[in-house]
Amino acid sequence: MQPGDALALQHLYASSPRYFQTIAAPIPLLEDVTRELESASSDPRRSLEFVMVNGERIGYLDLKFDYPQAGDVTVNLLLIAESQQRRGIGALVMRDLEQRLAGRVRKILAGVFFENSGAAAFWEGLGYHFAVDARPVLSWYAKELGTQPSLESPQTPQLEAVR
Ligand SMILES: CC(C)(COP(=O)(O)OP(=O)(O)OC[C@H]1O[C@@H](n2cnc3c(N)ncnc32)[C@H](O)[C@@H]1OP(=O)(O)O)[C@@H](O)C(=O)NCCC(=O)NCCS
Repeated sequence: MQPGDALALQHLYASSPRYFQTIAAPIPLLEDVTRELESASSDPRRSLEFVMVNGERIGYLDLKFDYPQAGDVTVNLLLIAESQQRRGIGALVMRDLEQRLAGRVRKILAGVFFENSGAAAFWEGLGYHFAVDARPVLSWYAKELGTQPSLESPQTPQLEAVR
């Protein structure tokens, strides 16, 4: 993703108001998103992707590598547009990511805002375990990955991530 993708990302945020209500944050404005993408593009440890289904940007995956420790990856945000939620897409994105990272990454972590019980259920359903209690703001979930690279295809045919 490039700073020029800010408009598309802001559109995705604006189509997901429930998430921002849950975390009691305003929907980021275009200027905030532009700044965020600029800052991410100058950080070699950040990786931002749109989740594409049938050519449409229906989600966003924001990762930070080697954070909090070398060999870890933190999911800063996985967001699936509200109209597309509960269709198995988030789970597909994470399974695809785990396959892509197997053998290269020790552990995937995700921070969940305390009020976001749906997200906690999502991570637990994917086998992530409660790792760090950072109440009152966040809970951290984590999953250790195998040490062997996966032999399976790194991308499912239905899912195409645009980096
Ligand atoms: C959390 C999120 C990424 C899940 O994506 P999704 O595509 O809707 O999830 P899936 O359809 O793949 O769900 C897989 C399973 O996770 C669980 N799950 C997902 N959302 C849930 C919710 N709101 N409440 C309870 N369980 C939930 C269910 O067990 C679900 O399986 P089921 O639908 O067969 O019951 C999505 O709801 C989202 O973008 N939320 C806003 C942003 C956010 O909170 N991100 C997570 C913090 S990084």
